Amino acid sequence: MHLISSEDHETMSRSAAGQIVDAVRQTPDLLLCLATGQTPVRTYALLAEHHRADPQLFSRVRILKLDEWYGLPMTAPQTGEVYLQHHVLGPLGIEPARYFGLRSDAEDAVAECARMDAVLAREGPIDLCVLGMGTNGHLGFIEPGTDLSLHTHVATLAPSSRQHTMVAALPDPPTHGLTLGLADVMASAEILLLVSGPAKQDALGRLLKRRIQTQFPASLLWLHPNATCFYDRAAAGM
Ligand code: GLP
Repeated sequence: MHLISSEDHETMSRSAAGQIVDAVRQTPDLLLCLATGQTPVRTYALLAEHHRADPQLFSRVRILKLDEWYGLPMTAPQTGEVYLQHHVLGPLGIEPARYFGLRSDAEDAVAECARMDAVLAREGPIDLCVLGMGTNGHLGFIEPGTDLSLHTHVATLAPSSRQHTMVAALPDPPTHGLTLGLADVMASAEILLLVSGPAKQDALGRLLKRRIQTQFPASLLWLHPNATCFYDRAAAGM
């Protein structure tokens, strides 16, 4: 994994957005898998700026949602769905045919995962995967465990995931999530991991120890041939 240390969140976001735009210019119809959460918000806003300057840039890109809270209506403001609509799909003008996402309100969660596996078999593999990291080292909702699922699965959320800012204010935050699996992420041609802010200091410190642990899923990225970790000084505790 390459490491790119930035002065602050803005600089980190600019580096990451620049790398995404380079990839899109090289492969205009690339399959771009995106995480939600606070960390990439500015990166996505910068992509929207690029789109305004060059409306053709994202006109063939396909977007895939990495993960989703399970059990919320699709229109709930806490969902990854509403987040992506607001920060990415609307601003970049991605029409429904070029967007693939797990449904938070699926009646049968296992069938919904199978549906996404079929979407990936048809549209995949992922060209570029943008990831954040949970304070417990999770990627998407690939939670720490003694064994990790290869493909899309229903995840039992760790206590720290249920306290994530997206859902913490809910009286009863979701107990489960839906997420792509480790093999789906690792099959990506390129991976960008974004880590920002003081809350990630412990997790980043653990990642930078370069030890592979299924109890710390982000560490598996050390095995990927083309992964880059962008982090800022606040996350590095500097
Ligand atoms: C959340 C999401 C992930 C996200 C991560 C970090 O629970 N499931 O997709 O990348 O945790 O979120 P944040 O960037 O807000 O710290």
